[in-house]
Amino acid sequence: MQHANSPTFKTILSSEIDQPMQYKLLAGVIIPRPIALVTTLGPRGPNAGPYSFFNGIATDPPMVVLSGGPRKTPEGEWAMKDTIRNIEASREFVVNLVSTPILDKMNICATDFDETVDEIDLAGFTTVASKHIAAPRLREAMVHLECRAVQIIPISNRPYRMILGEVLCFHIDEKILQERNRIDVAGFDPVGRLSGDDYTRVTDRLSVRRIPPPKDKAAPGAGGGG
Ligand SMILES: Cc1cc2nc3c(=O)[nH]c(=O)nc-3n(C[C@H](O)[C@H](O)[C@H](O)COP(=O)(O)O)c2cc1C
Repeated sequence: MQHANSPTFKTILSSEIDQPMQYKLLAGVIIPRPIALVTTLGPRGPNAGPYSFFNGIATDPPMVVLSGGPRKTPEGEWAMKDTIRNIEASREFVVNLVSTPILDKMNICATDFDETVDEIDLAGFTTVASKHIAAPRLREAMVHLECRAVQIIPISNRPYRMILGEVLCFHIDEKILQERNRIDVAGFDPVGRLSGDDYTRVTDRLSVRRIPPPKDKAAPGAGGGG
């Protein structure tokens, strides 16, 4: 291992920056992020909210993670977002993956309306019954993951929740499902979140072939991963 002479990096200590700056840096460098438009069932009916602190994390069983921060009430108190509150109560949710044709609809669901507003209806989404859980799916999304929350972990000094969900069932629009369960990326047209109001599409792809290790240097049982 060789150490190159240090180029010019600015080093920023997390303990010396405020929370908005921490968010700005985190969301600015971890890009693009997939967007889960999460549907849940609450006391007033179905709810939808986008979450980009989201990813796939394991198989056997397939699992996803998402994290939700709090919002400030007009009285200055912390309150859980509807999605998180509903998951804590029902332990169920659907991840509807966001594609370009539903980006504007998703954006409507991101507005912090109070509980009296039906964001799903306002956005023009249609709901479809799920197979294993009570929370509905969004017909206009091309992929739905029905999930059961298996762990809800409080994180951060603020009331954040990290939700680990087991994917009980994948619903994939047949238009984008190809031979051997490969996904047609162009047809799927997923949107990734950058920072602020910016998003990106998968319009420029690169293929890099994995390099097999020489037989005498291969780790036992290696393979898989994210
Ligand atoms: C693309 C996008 C991604 C978002 N990701 C997150 C996230 O990962 N965590 C979070 O707490 N809020 C996130 N938000 C903000 C919430 O979507 C917003 O607070 C929304 O009103 C929550 O809806 P709910 O209260 O119905 O759950 C995101 C907003 C957008 C537009």
